[in-house]
Amino acid sequence: MERNESMNLAWADQALEMSLSKIEKNIDRIGEHFPHVAYDGVYNDQGPAFWVSGFWPGLLWLYYEETKDERALDLARALEKRMDEVLDGFVTLHHDVGFMWLPSAVIDYKLTGNETSKVRGLKAASHLAGRFNLAGRFIRAWTDEVDPNSKGWAIIDCMMNIPLLFWASRETKDPRFYHIAEAHADTVLKHFVRSDNTTAHIVSFDPYTGEKIENLGGQGKDADSAWARGQAWLIYGMTLAYRETGKKDYCTAAKNTANYFLAHLPEDQVPYWDFRTDQKDQFVLDSSAAACTASGLLELSSIMEDGPEKIFYYEKALQILKGLYEHHYDLSENSQAMILHGTVNYAKKKHVNVPIIYGDYFFTEALIKLKHETNIF
Ligand code: GLY
Repeated sequence: MERNESMNLAWADQALEMSLSKIEKNIDRIGEHFPHVAYDGVYNDQGPAFWVSGFWPGLLWLYYEETKDERALDLARALEKRMDEVLDGFVTLHHDVGFMWLPSAVIDYKLTGNETSKVRGLKAASHLAGRFNLAGRFIRAWTDEVDPNSKGWAIIDCMMNIPLLFWASRETKDPRFYHIAEAHADTVLKHFVRSDNTTAHIVSFDPYTGEKIENLGGQGKDADSAWARGQAWLIYGMTLAYRETGKKDYCTAAKNTANYFLAHLPEDQVPYWDFRTDQKDQFVLDSSAAACTASGLLELSSIMEDGPEKIFYYEKALQILKGLYEHHYDLSENSQAMILHGTVNYAKKKHVNVPIIYGDYFFTEALIKLKHETNIF
């Protein structure tokens, strides 16, 4: 969709300006650390090995693209280098290498042509491809350190990691990576997406035969739940799989699961942590699911043919972003954080209704998409 005067996007310009200003201040305030969640406006440091380590570099690259401020480039590169110990450490590395190296090394390579970054991206992609279980046609999520029983577990979040494989395939002109990404996405369609257009978080397969065993609750309420962020990963991830393959089934799944998400949003546009939450837990929100979905819907709209659906998803994305800015944005200049009320893991009561770095990342990414095309994933 082309942005035009009649859309009245002054709020979006203001939100982007404020977010860029926070990133600029955070160059000194956060510096060479790996933020995850913020308390009292100050981000913690979760270290380079945690799955969110790419998002602060990602924010710096978004900021660099807008401003050409070399301090952001230098810091993003320093963080990228710190992540090498994790990539080369290998043994405890999991499937979240897309979340980690797409917004850091791969974007560095795309924007600056840095060859060292390209190698990092390809190493990460090879690791992800190596996690593919041929019998079950899924990518294994975690390692034995997380759970010794997880050899047959795939999780919905991986839909946001497979874009790394599509990138690697294009980069090497070798379809192996593409085939694995496509096979995994097909498995998600078959075994994760339910007939009511919700998704399971974890699906457990027999790692030897590849037979599906059961759904597991994971970060959702239970095995039959509709965890809001899982739904967001599915919407954005299926959209990206459609963009890369042109497969209509992926587009249909992205639209259907988005329709479920949109139909269950409260007025302020931020979902409860799980769409099937118990009433007593309805104080728990997940703004990061809203931010990720908004960015995914802008992507979906951008690759659709002209028509009412293209307009519909664009407008819904705007509505979510506006809701986030008007009701859930931390306006204090002193706060490092942007988006309030994200929830990391309510099933384990970890970090409830707090700013989360990927909420800030997807919010900023979406605002920049509104302004002009920039897509890291
Ligand atoms: N990828 C883990 C999460 O969404 O919390």
